[in-house]
Amino acid sequence: MVPVTSHEKSMPNDLYIDHVRTRREAAERVLAATGFEALVVDSGRPFRYYADDMDAPHHEGPHFVHWVPLQGPHHLLLVRPDERPLVVRVAPEDYWYEQAPLGSPFWAEELDVREVGTREQAWELVRSALEGAAYVGDAPDEARAHGVAPSGLNPAAMVARLDWDRSFKTPYEVACIEEAQVMAARGHVAAKASFEAGASELEIHQAYVAAVGCVDKELPYESIVALDEKGAILHYTGKRATRGGKVLLIDSGARHLGYCSDITRTWTLPGVDPVFARLVEGMDELQQGLCEAVRPGLGYVELHHKAHLWIGDLLHEVGILGVGGEEAFSKDLTRPFFPHGLGHFLGIQVHDVAGHQSDRSGGVVKAPAEHPFLRTTRTIETDQVFTVEPGIYFIEMLLREHRDGPHAGLLDWALVERMKGCGGVRIEDNLLVTRDGHRNLTRPHV
Ligand code: GLY
Ligand code: MN
Ligand code: MN
Repeated sequence: MVPVTSHEKSMPNDLYIDHVRTRREAAERVLAATGFEALVVDSGRPFRYYADDMDAPHHEGPHFVHWVPLQGPHHLLLVRPDERPLVVRVAPEDYWYEQAPLGSPFWAEELDVREVGTREQAWELVRSALEGAAYVGDAPDEARAHGVAPSGLNPAAMVARLDWDRSFKTPYEVACIEEAQVMAARGHVAAKASFEAGASELEIHQAYVAAVGCVDKELPYESIVALDEKGAILHYTGKRATRGGKVLLIDSGARHLGYCSDITRTWTLPGVDPVFARLVEGMDELQQGLCEAVRPGLGYVELHHKAHLWIGDLLHEVGILGVGGEEAFSKDLTRPFFPHGLGHFLGIQVHDVAGHQSDRSGGVVKAPAEHPFLRTTRTIETDQVFTVEPGIYFIEMLLREHRDGPHAGLLDWALVERMKGCGGVRIEDNLLVTRDGHRNLTRPHV
């Protein structure tokens, strides 16, 4: 029996055919704009831990994954105008690690595929194209040694254009992200059931990965499984073995053919503080309201600002703040409760590229001073995929300065103390922007 490797997972071939056509047209435009004759893209070198003989789990270079879902280090892709792209797969004969046969993956029909045993042989196969080529990858020293000119090593003008193009997803990419939703949804359903049965963070995490059907290193990021007060640590990755939490904040995704999902849910059990239960319910309503507002032409910064106002209103409604959203924001009283950005682009990377780009040639729009952690300042446009993930947390480090501040009297500190044991609430969905609005990729599944 031929072993099935993950790069053989199925995909409707017509979507991939269109995707490669789009990539080739985009590459031709980028080459013409930057004056290079060819593009060489690397799947990357293994990353070895310092003073060790172990490598980190390999993350293929994102520009490589944009073309082909072939896993592993050392592969090279060569793109030239008017030629079928060439993938050189490096699969050494090896008895330490498995080198599964390539088989007949769906993508191989659209590309020329060669297999070699060493990285050196891979360079040999693309050597004739290296003069005048641009190289994109993590081994510019090797590329230089094999003949790429210094000006062709990760040229900023080219990388900016490739990144810009990555922020508009093709139907193939959307299908991959949707499959990653379906996979993560299985995990979220299992995690919720496990929480409701009284499980620990460790057990909930194990229920999650078992239901997704993967091991931890295949997740797009280390899952955040936070019971009670740990929900206030934004990237909490501990996995405590103690049971019996009343609140679960779980932020966990999945990966399909190199594309990610990034989903957060917050669940409570009967007996949780009713004010916190209202915050969770209100956050869900508020998050769906923000999603409803998503349409082309809106600035993501505007949406983030709206989130602050609505979060202020919710905190006012439950009595934590003595003023509504507008006034609370003007007095900087929403930021301690909502100290991160509303969301970020999503694709091959969880925090996908180009969120601060103003144009394809690499102009930048920084996050505004009042929203320093906002990961996208872009205008919302058709075919973008991003997250919408508002939250409210009870973080002493951020609240402290307000205890003696000029507006201390506008907070109900006793209620804040009561909420601390509940940690926080975040709800996160992944949205595709369509011509007349958006499609929520997550909600149909979770
Ligand atoms: N899971 C990380 C984030 O939501 O950005
Ligand atoms: Mn997340
Ligand atoms: Mn996210």
